Amino acid sequence: MTQDEMKLAVAQAAVEYIRPRLGRETIVGVGTGSTANFFIDELAKVKHMFDGAVASSEATAERLKSHGITVFDLNAINELEVYVDGADEFDPRLNVVKGGGGALTREKIVAAVAKEFVCIVDSSKQADVMGDFPLPVEVIPMARSYVARELVKLDGMPVYRNGFVTDNGNEILDVHDLEIVDPKGLEATLNSIVGVVTNGLFAQRGADVILMGTPEGVQTIKH
Ligand code: A5P
Repeated sequence: MTQDEMKLAVAQAAVEYIRPRLGRETIVGVGTGSTANFFIDELAKVKHMFDGAVASSEATAERLKSHGITVFDLNAINELEVYVDGADEFDPRLNVVKGGGGALTREKIVAAVAKEFVCIVDSSKQADVMGDFPLPVEVIPMARSYVARELVKLDGMPVYRNGFVTDNGNEILDVHDLEIVDPKGLEATLNSIVGVVTNGLFAQRGADVILMGTPEGVQTIKH
């Protein structure tokens, strides 16, 4: 099975988590990236099951709209049952690193609102201890050098994602050489650095379920 076939398999499996509710609007939170794109294409086939979506990036909003799916402003909805998104790494406790595509801040906001975060990945994303994938940190542009110096004090090796501007008009530092043994603690520490908007660690609010594509089929990982 190719990596794309595994991504497609988990995207199809994630559709099961959309549960239409009688008499109430069903809105789906949708992530960003190549695996989320497979999910969007699957959503287009089951439009009768939901009323619309909230997007975690401009790219996702465009793809949803291209399928004729209504995209809601997060401020305009009362509740979000489910958020489906990919990840760059995850550990056995369902902590996740995200933001390889730079959409981490909106992804984290949508995940925070959703009752259930369903993470869809292929098996290459599995790690015992995260940190091989450089941890993205979104920063206010004028704070970039200051934040980078603070990250070095935490034994990280920040690399400026040159030329990349987030949907929020900010910049990204990708932090190499971290061994993320305390995801919740590191997430909080990074967020306390002045000038940091968000970091890509989803540990305070990790995934509720991970659907992992393997050559043998889709594995469901839960607490
Ligand atoms: C986007 O900012 C990221 O958080 C993605 O969800 C993550 O990088 C996974 O992307 P792929 O599905 O393309 O691997």
